[in-house]
Amino acid sequence: MNRNLDVLRREAAARLADVSDAPDIDARRLLEHATGLSATQLIVNGQRAASDDERQRFDTLLTRRLTGEPLAYIIGTVGFHELILQVSPDVLIPRPDTETLVELALARLDADAPLSVVDLGTGSGAIALALAHARPRWQLLATDASFAALDCAQHNARRLRLDKVQFIQGQWLSALATQRFDAIVSNPPYIDPHDRHLLDAALGHEPRHALVAEDGGLADLRRIVRAAPYHLRPGGRILLEHGCDQGPAVRAMLGKAGLDDVATHHDLGGRPRVSVGLWHGGRVD
Ligand SMILES: C[S@@+](CC[C@H](N)C(=O)[O-])C[C@H]1O[C@@H](n2cnc3c(N)ncnc32)[C@H](O)[C@@H]1O
Repeated sequence: MNRNLDVLRREAAARLADVSDAPDIDARRLLEHATGLSATQLIVNGQRAASDDERQRFDTLLTRRLTGEPLAYIIGTVGFHELILQVSPDVLIPRPDTETLVELALARLDADAPLSVVDLGTGSGAIALALAHARPRWQLLATDASFAALDCAQHNARRLRLDKVQFIQGQWLSALATQRFDAIVSNPPYIDPHDRHLLDAALGHEPRHALVAEDGGLADLRRIVRAAPYHLRPGGRILLEHGCDQGPAVRAMLGKAGLDDVATHHDLGGRPRVSVGLWHGGRVD
């Protein structure tokens, strides 16, 4: 006899406890995806037997999750800030940590001015689209070296009707000729190639070029910071996400490049994760 939806969900949650920090949520989201039912409909229909098709679809999704594939890649979406983004294995899955960078940008930059802001290494478009959604007057430009990532980001922009956001393919700031901005924001790759976290099953599913940077994880941060004075307007700000042990190195880079008001801010978990600087203008050596 077919088990009912509640039983399927509970059994799956028990099996997922070994691979997931949130097994109950994962089991529910997978069952929603397999049945096409919303969370509320699943509660209402909990006592009904799963059809053969539903059970087979659910088993397939559950097996993928049990091998460590991230939930977001299996169901194809993830929540970020106030948006639901589509994601594929071509892009990093946006993390709640990165919302700290978004919140700092929203808090520090003039909400009502028509600011020009560039998001370097946009991936799924997470940062650029969250900012464009929250600040309709800002002009957002999003870049990535990966064409596949840009496809994903542009698809999200269209779905979310954030059509004003522009996209450019290229390497960090060299993609932008002599253009200057009121703010540069970025969550670049910053994991040391030798970091043991890269062996985690979940990270193994994400694109390595989105995670890893040479020079102990600092190479891309350094490229961005060195070029920033050539691309910021006087009074412009830079906000960079980085690893929790990289704050001192990133602050030193920002100071050396001539930025002022250099500081590091903590994420929701209390870890130092976003460093910022202000470009007063002047000579670039
Ligand atoms: C850590 S992911 C961040 C993605 C997205 N901004 C987010 O926060 O979810 C870094 C992104 O930088 C892009 N990237 C890597 N090297 C790059 C380069 N040299 N120039 C521009 N983008 C690059 C990757 O393709 C990836 O999308």
